[in-house]
Amino acid sequence: MLVDALAPLGEVRAFDRQGLDLLDLQSIRSVTAKVAPDVIVNAAAYTAVDRAEQEKDSAFAVNHQAVEELARQANALDALLIHFSTDYVFDGEKRMPYVESDAPAPLSVYGSSKLKGERAIAASGCRHLIFRTSWVYGPAGRSFLHAILAAAKAMPELRVVDDQRGAPTTSMAIAGAVAQVLSNPGLSGKPSGIYHLSAAGETTWHGFAAAILEGRGLKTPVVAIRSDEYPAAARRPKNSLLDNSKLGATFGVALPDWRQGLGAVLAAIH
Ligand SMILES: NC(=O)c1ccc[n+]([C@@H]2O[C@H](COP(=O)([O-])OP(=O)(O)OC[C@H]3O[C@@H](n4cnc5c(N)ncnc54)[C@H](OP(=O)(O)O)[C@@H]3O)[C@@H](O)[C@H]2O)c1
Repeated sequence: MLVDALAPLGEVRAFDRQGLDLLDLQSIRSVTAKVAPDVIVNAAAYTAVDRAEQEKDSAFAVNHQAVEELARQANALDALLIHFSTDYVFDGEKRMPYVESDAPAPLSVYGSSKLKGERAIAASGCRHLIFRTSWVYGPAGRSFLHAILAAAKAMPELRVVDDQRGAPTTSMAIAGAVAQVLSNPGLSGKPSGIYHLSAAGETTWHGFAAAILEGRGLKTPVVAIRSDEYPAAARRPKNSLLDNSKLGATFGVALPDWRQGLGAVLAAIH
């Protein structure tokens, strides 16, 4: 997705875990030195939110130490570092959507590790854009959408949390937005920092599940439950909404409503 979106902008070299293992800092150094990129895009992360509560070292190794090394290399090469972070850096107690200057207070190991990654980038002095996004899904891979579609076919009813608010954001929309940002003719003059990047509108996991089933014409009932009725190892913020005004004001980029994104993903997985 990201590679396709970025390809028209220049040569893209993409690496999987075999080509560049973020747990191996020497591999980060040798690959970045060899490629000498103008832009480094880090879309990899340790994302197992619940497992991270038990695997703290692994989460911090990928989401903090590896990111710190990428930032060091970006600084040495004077490359622009594009990095992704998360709504889970916040505790969700705010009523309004979060702005970039709101104080983070992660509830989970995953959120803490991502916050440390953000801070390592800022401290490195490299040119950077950190895009905090939320509730990401796309046509491929594992996601809430895929889990709901599978469960709806296998179970008589679904029970889905209704007290966490957020904006489901598609990988296609994120990739398109990053390409738009990188195409901005004034990019070199734009300030480094954090930018919130999520779909417009809001829903809950329950609302999202219901919309997914409706979009597929599935009639499985979806029962709304509270977070404490769905025990999970990691706590999640009640409010995951991100205010995207800074992204719009700086780059003229705004993502469409989450329902439009859902329609695009459902159309893509026919
Ligand atoms: N998913 C969400 O709801 C969400 C929300 C907010 C922010 N984000 C952020 O968005 C970004 C992308 O998330 P995602 O959901 O697309 O993640 P994902 O589907 O879990 O993919 C993570 C990728 O990172 C790779 N990776 C993990 N450890 C690695 C290592 N040691 N070396 C090299 N590659 C490694 C994985 O490779 P393998 O396939 O080999 O494991 C996988 O391709 C992350 O920064 C995440 O924090 C995600």
